[in-house]
Amino acid sequence: MSRFYITTPIYYINAEPHLGHAYTTMIADAVARAHRLMGDEVFFLTGTDEHGQKVERAAQKAGIPTKAFADQTSEKFRDLSGLLNISNDAFIRTTEPRHYRAAQELWRRVKEKGYIYKGKYEGWYCTVDEVFVPETQLVDGRCPTCGGKVEKIAEESYFFKLSAFHQPLLDHYKSHPDFVTPAHRRNEIVSFLEGGLQDLSVSRTSFTWGVPVPDDPAHVMYVWFDALTNYMTAVGYGDASAASGEMFKKYWPADVHLIGKEIVRQHGIYWPAFLMAAGLPIPKQLVSHGWWMMDGAKMSKSIGNVVRPKDYVDRFGLDAFRYFVMREMMFGQDADFTDETFLTRYNADLANDLGNLISRATTMIHRYCEGRVPQPDPSLRPMELRQQFEALIDSVKAHTTSFQFSFALREIWDAIGATNRYIVSVEPWKIAKQPELQAQLSTTLYVIADGLRVIAELLRPFIPGSAERALAMVGVAPAPQSWTTLKVDDLVPGARLGETTPLFPRIEQTVEELRTMSDEQSTPAPAPVAAPAVAPAAAAAPAEPAKITIDDFMKVELRVAKVLAAERVPKSNRLVKLQVDVGSEQRQLVAGIAEAYEPEALIGRTVVIVFNLKPAKLMGVESNGMVLAASPDGGKPMLVSFDTPPDPGTRVR
Ligand code: MSP
Repeated sequence: MSRFYITTPIYYINAEPHLGHAYTTMIADAVARAHRLMGDEVFFLTGTDEHGQKVERAAQKAGIPTKAFADQTSEKFRDLSGLLNISNDAFIRTTEPRHYRAAQELWRRVKEKGYIYKGKYEGWYCTVDEVFVPETQLVDGRCPTCGGKVEKIAEESYFFKLSAFHQPLLDHYKSHPDFVTPAHRRNEIVSFLEGGLQDLSVSRTSFTWGVPVPDDPAHVMYVWFDALTNYMTAVGYGDASAASGEMFKKYWPADVHLIGKEIVRQHGIYWPAFLMAAGLPIPKQLVSHGWWMMDGAKMSKSIGNVVRPKDYVDRFGLDAFRYFVMREMMFGQDADFTDETFLTRYNADLANDLGNLISRATTMIHRYCEGRVPQPDPSLRPMELRQQFEALIDSVKAHTTSFQFSFALREIWDAIGATNRYIVSVEPWKIAKQPELQAQLSTTLYVIADGLRVIAELLRPFIPGSAERALAMVGVAPAPQSWTTLKVDDLVPGARLGETTPLFPRIEQTVEELRTMSDEQSTPAPAPVAAPAVAPAAAAAPAEPAKITIDDFMKVELRVAKVLAAERVPKSNRLVKLQVDVGSEQRQLVAGIAEAYEPEALIGRTVVIVFNLKPAKLMGVESNGMVLAASPDGGKPMLVSFDTPPDPGTRVR
């Protein structure tokens, strides 16, 4: 067993958490979970970065004491862990006394070694990014990173002798080629280093919201000196107790600092230089990821183009959200977030591919094997599938621990596809009709259930809640270190399957319809994509829906209607507005059939409608009932019709 220490950046508390923050935390969580499953002793840290002038100003603007402001806003990031099922072992705040002690301890140590001196800083500062910007790097007089305003400052300051670490840093990069990944980020840092380094201002005197400099409290530390130290505070640095000493020895240096691409310089130059100056070990690796973009710009508070995790979690279920971001972003590159891609992946990958596998596997075992895992006959086992799964286990472990989530998930989905195809080609429902083929049926169902088990085990880091529910469905209790022994054909024959519940119910609405529904639901904060008419995963209903009585069915009043007029709903590809005759009255309905039927062709046609449905608005158009159509997977809708059309108003039952 080895120990594994992974961190996220600590987040600024002036913004509400958005997908950018959530993403870093979720992928760190996936890696932490994978290491735990592989038997490692993991310490996973996240937290908030609470000092600096922008926080002081934001608190003043809100009219509350800075500490109270920090307490409130930090809590939102702490809550994110609960919302996203994050398995962090600790949450650090830079306003905690233990952190003041640690930052001051590091300062003293660096100063004693002669790497901190007093001077005066004159130049530009970006308060959003908390960086000093050399005049030559300004873009149209603004910050080159965020495009925001910079401020001219001139104040007494302590300086860190960064220039002294020019060569040692270059040497470190040379001897540790994987110190920064992906390689293109490493190369950027190395070429920046090659340009030479200037000493760095590490204290401020024009505001007070920070860690006081030891023996000179008129100065507060530069927020990055303070913030970077959090990674050591959390594992005991600066605390004199024996337990903290032990912890620091055990966990420092960190194995991975996971960071966004915009803060590689602070982590890849300042942080190792501070540590070298103090004579402390340097973290083993900085892993940097790209940005979530929306409409071509980095998702950020200042632009306002943010995805709020809660909107998606509430509407699609947490694991759909986790799956999407890990599958969609090629690690290290930027990715666009669109509701259309989200919905497509949800329905295709989760509801369809994974959902079908779970429902087929468990339904057949319930039906043909009384709900118990059947005994296979090894001689009848399909070898090709077995080989694919054996390779899959090793490959997913390797991809996950090297942050290649989209590759890991793609391979898992290849295996889901292969298993679904195996089911279709073997047709177990036909074998089940031939008692002499019992051994073949048992083996087939065993192979399918065992495949589902392996898939669910491999999905645990990514969609932990759903994966563990899927395991329970094939009768397996999730073990904390299951990846240490994970292998094919390990499902125990005779084990009783758990209850099957759909994890990702299919969503029938289009993005447009979901948005319209959201507008009508007068929720306090309209979401980009609104509530599908499905239960969230956590509250999923049983797979085999309870049977309804004839009385239940009779509550739905189906009637024959004749289309009198039809026109497209503006700006919608799917919706048509219909005026129909229902015998007793005329009505307006909106139907999602425009992709299959031209409005003109609908006029005069007889259809079946749900007559007693509550009125709703679709794309702002009132719909008083619903037209019945078959909706083949991936195909176009087909209206229910009659050989000889009955009179409008005739009841259908
Ligand atoms: N407080 C500093 C980090 C100090 S670490 C010692 C900071 N905070 S931040 O609130 O701005 O968060 C930055 C991190 O949030 C990024 O490094 C990245 O991990 C994540 N993201 C914020 N916006 C993002 C996107 N649009 N896309 C992906 N992740 C981004 O910098």
